[in-house]
Amino acid sequence: MTDLPKTYRVKSFGCQMNVYDGERMAELLGAQGMTAAAEGEDADLVVLNTCHIREKAAEKAYSDVGRLKREDGSKPVIALAGCVAQAEGAEAKNRSKLIDLVVGPQAYHRLPDMVAEVAAGQRPVDTDMPAISKFGALPARKRSGPSAFLTVQEGCDKFCTYCVVPYTRGAEISRPFSDVVAEAQALVEGGAKELTLLGQNVNAYDGGLDTLIREIARIDGLERIRYTTSHPNDMTDGLIAAHAEVDKLMPYLHLPVQSGSDKILKAMNRSHSADSYLKVLDKMRVARPDIAISGDFIVGFPGETEKDFEDTLAIVDAVGYASAYSFKYSPRPGTPAATMEGAVAQEVMDERLQRLHARLAEHSLAFNRATIGKSTRILIDRKGRLPGQMIGKSPWLQSVFVETDAKIGDLVDVEITHALPNSMGGILQREKVTT
Ligand code: 5AD
Ligand code: SF4
Repeated sequence: MTDLPKTYRVKSFGCQMNVYDGERMAELLGAQGMTAAAEGEDADLVVLNTCHIREKAAEKAYSDVGRLKREDGSKPVIALAGCVAQAEGAEAKNRSKLIDLVVGPQAYHRLPDMVAEVAAGQRPVDTDMPAISKFGALPARKRSGPSAFLTVQEGCDKFCTYCVVPYTRGAEISRPFSDVVAEAQALVEGGAKELTLLGQNVNAYDGGLDTLIREIARIDGLERIRYTTSHPNDMTDGLIAAHAEVDKLMPYLHLPVQSGSDKILKAMNRSHSADSYLKVLDKMRVARPDIAISGDFIVGFPGETEKDFEDTLAIVDAVGYASAYSFKYSPRPGTPAATMEGAVAQEVMDERLQRLHARLAEHSLAFNRATIGKSTRILIDRKGRLPGQMIGKSPWLQSVFVETDAKIGDLVDVEITHALPNSMGGILQREKVTT
């Protein structure tokens, strides 16, 4: 029997849902009386909240584990959490003797018990995916920054052939409507002005995402609502209408397309075509003409020819993305695409990714430039590097640099004066609007 850890550090990698999960694990450990280790100080317990989505994720996680060993040979209690923990399971303990416990994304409410088991000399593993959700077992939300994440739905039933999510996060499950609304309320009371509703397939939310958004919009003190990530096939007319009708819903939509080639979309099992995707966006633009569209792309999926890739560039031009994320295809063990023929050579992938990046940057620059001279409201979320400079998010989610004495969490009106592909600069228009 060893002592229970007194301090903890949670390190989250990957997507926003992991950031959310990391916060909730920290709150859970805090509720057990542990305190967060100060910056730069050793923690008694380190939780590595890992991501498995792309390239060498497991290897990276094990090398992160290895680096936790201290110079004097001692080490913290090490918890492997997140999607690598789910994918590796008990095998993780064989691959690294340093790992004390393995906890999957659907089991982390058990973390305090498992830490106690470690103190009692065990090396517990829990990668169960119980039908009863973990959320009920987590402590209530108390404090929040100005912009908070809120998971409303988890898992995915779509089974795109390249993707591990249906295996690491499990089947689609939506949290009960009233639980989500109560958590939203608590986050706003704790200081949140903006909520981003999260789900691997957020727009497949059971109670109707638009209904949920309309309900959450009624919370006093909440100024902005966002959601991510959406699947094109679940963009209902109701959700599109909400963009026209709910003022607090920001004009931004992250709608991954992955490829512009119907042949590749079919091989990816995306169950939409380039054309059906564009039609969704046409409707969205009627509802909300200034909407910023963001996307995800994979280059070099097995069988992707130059012509297929050109179709991807064509859809980029047709949409005019305000922002986007693009990745080289990486085979994920256990997914159908991992055994498909027609692997694309690394050099070809590199070259295509560069061309795609260049094209996407042109469009985001064009989008940002079009806002020059306009007045917009930003939510200040951090300090800039220059004295007196603050950085906030525009409604379209770009970072806007402005000189102001406003504080983090304030909403201020600025006039946009210049634009880069990933950020914009502005000057203060009036005094603080909301504090
Ligand atoms: N290889 C490359 N990119 C991937 N993504 C998901 N799985 C893979 C993979 N195996 C990308 C998709 C998805 C984003 C979150 O990560 O573009 O939308
Ligand atoms: Fe993965 Fe496709 Fe589900 Fe997105 S929709 S999480 S890419 S399987």
